[in-house]
Amino acid sequence: MGRAGRSAIPSPLVGEGKGGGDRRTSAVGIPPTPNPSPQGGGGQASRDRDADRPVTADPGFGVYVHWPFCASKCPYCDFNSHVRMAGIDEPRFAAAFAREIAHMAALAPGRTVTSIFLGGGTPSLMKPETVGGILDRIAASWSIASDAEITLEANPSSVEAERFAGYRAAGVNRVSLGVQALNDGDLKTLGRLHSVAEARRAIDIAARTFERFSFDLIYARPAQTPEAWRAELSEALAMMRDHLSLYQLTIEEGTPFAGLHRAGKLAVPEPELADTLYEITQELTEAAGIPAYEISNHARAGAESRHNLTYWRYGDYAGVGPGAHGRLVIDGVRHALVTERQPEAWAASVEQRGHGIIEDTTLARSEEADEMLLMGLRLAEGIDLRRLEALGGMRPSRAAIERLEKLALVEHHAPDRLVATRAGRFVLNELVLQLSASFAPITVS
Ligand SMILES: C[S@@+](CC[C@H](N)C(=O)[O-])C[C@H]1O[C@@H](n2cnc3c(N)ncnc32)[C@H](O)[C@@H]1O
Ligand code: SF4
Repeated sequence: MGRAGRSAIPSPLVGEGKGGGDRRTSAVGIPPTPNPSPQGGGGQASRDRDADRPVTADPGFGVYVHWPFCASKCPYCDFNSHVRMAGIDEPRFAAAFAREIAHMAALAPGRTVTSIFLGGGTPSLMKPETVGGILDRIAASWSIASDAEITLEANPSSVEAERFAGYRAAGVNRVSLGVQALNDGDLKTLGRLHSVAEARRAIDIAARTFERFSFDLIYARPAQTPEAWRAELSEALAMMRDHLSLYQLTIEEGTPFAGLHRAGKLAVPEPELADTLYEITQELTEAAGIPAYEISNHARAGAESRHNLTYWRYGDYAGVGPGAHGRLVIDGVRHALVTERQPEAWAASVEQRGHGIIEDTTLARSEEADEMLLMGLRLAEGIDLRRLEALGGMRPSRAAIERLEKLALVEHHAPDRLVATRAGRFVLNELVLQLSASFAPITVS
């Protein structure tokens, strides 16, 4: 991400599309546009429950491992996921993961891993032995914090739920299930292979097997009414433990849904209805004690996804596997790393060179500051401007902050925390542009 230019707030509001949230963060690293509601609007500036919490000084060090295969491709999904009808050479990929982990550890040695996230694709297609091998390799490459969070993303089909005990024995201590909808008609529309009954069973097994689990739902689906979403979300809240990811459906370019949408064959809720669905989401989750701690993520205090918090708090993370992104400070300079997306080409590259990295960009301090703003303002806790200063060597001007405060888009909390209000998070990209354009370097006299 380069240095942002100047433009006017509040008009035009950025309408980059719907959805956003940690699904992207989890998948391959830095997410594109976080935007909880399509065309802005929606809601008063609100003081967030996290605003007075101290911001963690150490955002942790995460390892993201991308498993790029799925049993079938969902028509809305633009993740780096592939179907292999002829089967997957799991030992080959397991060996390539092991080599690339060792390579990343050589780039960033001596770190303590605070979280691991096995994302996809569908990592629950992996055998527990493969997962165990990956975790062992990570443990052999870095030290692992005694309370490290180790999450595996799982699809809720019955076959996969049967493997949960094996994953737990391999070291996984949290699962995140892609439930998506709690009615069979919508699961069919979304092209999912599982039924509501299977999802319920998978949630039961997850609850019995793991102390920590979460599940994802997609809302603002075709023909979804506020009443239907209210009822469905209430059901989900009764089934959850302490964390839910709730994403607005995004029509992603290049997917079958995008083609259908363009052809007028797939109607998604109009902005006003999407805003209503978003407001229902906030109302019900707040009442259930799991307010949003990030645009699309809701948890009780202490149950947040630590791995994703590392991204949003702009910590370091190694990205392993096809199409994975990483941010690693190497010799005092932060590198943005990207690996080859195509799974077999990635594996061949690892076999030849020990890694699949195809881009390695060193970030200027101003770019780090931009990224930190973009990530941190997604969080209800906001960002610590002193940390921004320490990291990027700059801070937004007082005038810019005051102007945005007057527009009720940000709040400046003592001692030095900047928090995007709910209205501000609707226009997050624009907010970051404005703040970034006002950056003034800090000079030490
Ligand atoms: C890596 S994906 C999927 C994990 C797992 N393969 C599954 O589908 O259950 C993580 C989450 O992103 C969300 N997601 C994917 N594409 C989306 C889209 N176009 N709009 C909104 N949410 C989406 C889904 O909720 C999904 O569970
Ligand atoms: S199973 Fe998950 S990752 Fe795979 S295509 Fe569907 S949503 Fe995407």
